[in-house]
Amino acid sequence: MAKRIKEPRIALYPAPVVLVSCADVQGKLNIITVICAGIACVKPPIISIGVHPWVYSHSLIESTGEFVVNIPTVDILAKVDYCGSVSGREVDKFKETGLTPVPASQVKPPLIEECPVNLECVVRQILQLGIHHLFLGEVVATHLDETLMDANGKVQGEKCNPLVYLYLSRE
Ligand SMILES: Cc1cc2nc3c(=O)[nH]c(=O)nc-3n(C[C@H](O)[C@H](O)[C@H](O)COP(=O)(O)O)c2cc1C
Repeated sequence: MAKRIKEPRIALYPAPVVLVSCADVQGKLNIITVICAGIACVKPPIISIGVHPWVYSHSLIESTGEFVVNIPTVDILAKVDYCGSVSGREVDKFKETGLTPVPASQVKPPLIEECPVNLECVVRQILQLGIHHLFLGEVVATHLDETLMDANGKVQGEKCNPLVYLYLSRE
């Protein structure tokens, strides 16, 4: 293989694209599109999301210490793009996208009904790394849609239809 050396870059792929739902202390809801999302620890179950400190969602997650990671399918690509293009400071993204908030079981931010997987998270640590602050969230409840499962309740990977992002191709 003839390889070229490039400047340091986050060339991990594929990266999952997720919709993170959050709420302010009064209960006003918001959604942010995030690709800086990953598995941080298996036991206890902890996932990480990297969020710019200047976006609206950062202040909501920081103030409440809760968020929900919702994993979309390719069917709602346009809505995922929209939630990553406008700010909840100016628009109600649930209203504008038609996405449906559903009460979570352990946290105040809602699940997004149209996403087949929802991970309710409680913030355990925040690391101020740079242009992203890393929220480490312990998963306190997991919701899996039955359409992902076979007759025995086993999740079938090919039914997940996830959206993934190739950061590698960005210059
Ligand atoms: C595909 C995609 C991925 C994104 N990933 C991130 C991310 O990982 N972290 C982040 O802070 N912003 C990310 N953004 C940008 C935010 O989603 C965007 O700034 C959003 O408008 C912030 O919304 P808010 O002000 O309502 O919080 C992404 C946007 C898109 C379209």
